[in-house]
Amino acid sequence: MVGAKCGLAPNQNSLTGGDCMKPLLYGALICLLFIGFQILAATQDAKPLSYYDPQVRDLLSKMTLEEKIGQMVQPEQEHVLSNAGDMQKYFIGSVLSGGDSDPKESNSLLNWTDLYDQVQQEAMKTRLGIPVLYGIDAVHGHSNVLGAVIFPHNIALGCTRDPDLVERIGRITAREVRATGIQWTFGPCVAVPQDIRWGRTYEGFSEDPSLVALLGEAAVRGMQGSDLGNPLSILACAKHYVGDGGTEASTAPRFGKPQGKSARLWLDQGDMKVDEATLRRIHLPGYVAAVEAGVGSIMPSYSSWNGVKCSGSKRLLTEILKEELGFEGFLISDYNAISQVKPGDRKGSIEISINAGMDMAMEPQGYRSFFENLKELVLEGKVPMSRIDDAVTRILRVKFAMGLMDTNRPQLADRNLHSSFGSAEHRAVAREAVRKSVVLLKNSQNTLPMSKELTRIHVSGKSADNIGNQCGGWTIRWQGQSGEVTPGGTTILEAIEGTVSAQTEVTYSLDGSGAEGASLGVVVVGERPYAEGVGDTSNLLLDEEDLAAIANVKNAGIPVVVLLISGRPMIIGDALPQSDAFLVTFLPGTEGQGVTDVLFGDYEPTGRLSFSWPKSMDQLPLNKNEIKGSYEPLFPYGYGLSY
Ligand code: BGC
Ligand code: BGC
Repeated sequence: MVGAKCGLAPNQNSLTGGDCMKPLLYGALICLLFIGFQILAATQDAKPLSYYDPQVRDLLSKMTLEEKIGQMVQPEQEHVLSNAGDMQKYFIGSVLSGGDSDPKESNSLLNWTDLYDQVQQEAMKTRLGIPVLYGIDAVHGHSNVLGAVIFPHNIALGCTRDPDLVERIGRITAREVRATGIQWTFGPCVAVPQDIRWGRTYEGFSEDPSLVALLGEAAVRGMQGSDLGNPLSILACAKHYVGDGGTEASTAPRFGKPQGKSARLWLDQGDMKVDEATLRRIHLPGYVAAVEAGVGSIMPSYSSWNGVKCSGSKRLLTEILKEELGFEGFLISDYNAISQVKPGDRKGSIEISINAGMDMAMEPQGYRSFFENLKELVLEGKVPMSRIDDAVTRILRVKFAMGLMDTNRPQLADRNLHSSFGSAEHRAVAREAVRKSVVLLKNSQNTLPMSKELTRIHVSGKSADNIGNQCGGWTIRWQGQSGEVTPGGTTILEAIEGTVSAQTEVTYSLDGSGAEGASLGVVVVGERPYAEGVGDTSNLLLDEEDLAAIANVKNAGIPVVVLLISGRPMIIGDALPQSDAFLVTFLPGTEGQGVTDVLFGDYEPTGRLSFSWPKSMDQLPLNKNEIKGSYEPLFPYGYGLSY
């Protein structure tokens, strides 16, 4: 450590030591030189994206309008591959896999790698042979691929308060993504959820803007590394710009469509009704930090700000983000989001969005009509050529910075990376993340830590032996899936079985029956997986099944430890008084052993809540930012006990 070497020994704390000071001074000089070199090396690594503009200009001057528009459109792999020749015909510069856009055969590592290589080979057949940027939602590890290490979702990482850990997670995610050849993730999500009824709450690190900024920046550093050109780095994408977590709950018809009989509450893709000062104070800091960390792409939000779609707002995209914050990378629209800018008028939507500053359009199926419409808009003079050149410049800057334009570099997947995919080393970091994110909310009579020598532990609850519930949404499938969603990893039950002494008996029942006579019961309850608006809800109460499991174990007259696995705080009501100890782990991912590290006291809990915890639904929205009336949560933001 530089700091340690430079430190004064306790008896050398004055600068009047004569000869005996010389070694110290030399030492200090060497330290300074060392620091100087480090700074120089760091600044050399981190070139601004505009550093590549001379090369970009040269390439741009050789491109036709069609080739430029091709760089600006991003179809989904299955649609563009099923139309043979379209990659070349439309000069496609980027492709995505959405949450359910998988290889035809299966989600194996090999199939994903083959799919990427196939797409890349098609792209290289275009006239200029510009490689494709392949984007995917690797939002908690390379979460579409079977056997990948699945890290906790961001809400749990927020409880660790540990940017170094989040950076290491980003590094590992980058490595696993690169193993399939893919070079771009649609993350980190730097939303600042203000209302936990929102289905995307778990994608945000915290309700607190400064924590989001701290961890969002760390995630970008981890994914992109100190140099985007490193073949083990991936391009990051801060999303969803801006205020996706600030929308107002509504039961009004969505997108002009009536909602059927029972009007459902929704927040996703809604409207944020706040003034600019509030937007800047709560929702912008994550982007300021991400831009400072050099993030190469940002995804504008589906949502609106005071009735104006973010994806069509020149104020947000160009004036604030590009001009004021100096963002030099490119903007990628959200999945079919552009058409929402002016409902019913697709060409008009494209005109508004591109003129507002959108650079690349995620058009999973509609890439052909986007291409034709934008071409017409340019020829009609409705979208200036200068705007097209700016958009393509931004995209190509990133491609140059990433080494995609380096003809000496292979652009196909590096299959040597397969050997470390989902490795024990990677899982160890996920396990560390899990144990650091567990929050202990109640521990009466020192119920925890529990002994590994107990005679019998009875484990129950719908999430006790369920890796899919641990992982949540955005795992193999868009919506995630209960049960055996991916191989590898450890359920809570398996982790307990693997930790206790050889003499300890571990029994299990789904519903908590059969607990009588055990030394202690562990009940694992919470939410089943969901993603995006599907998770919007007006009911966060524990379900009947969970309450019954807790009651059954309680009625057995033994100490009860309740562990909640959910995408957000829930209304736990009577479950709290019924429990002797209560912990929350949010969505921990595949490494259940991180939980047992805490349960058995191998790690003393340090996790602190990243969100305020309400007593009842009628307190929502509840957060510590905009306190209207009193702030009376069940557990305040930052709460967490230890042993
Ligand atoms: C896709 C997701 C996408 C969603 C948008 C799904 O079909 O798989 O990636 O986010 O649609 O509505
Ligand atoms: C989501 C984004 C995601 C995209 C691609 C959208 O529906 O809002 O977060 O990156 O789909 O899957």
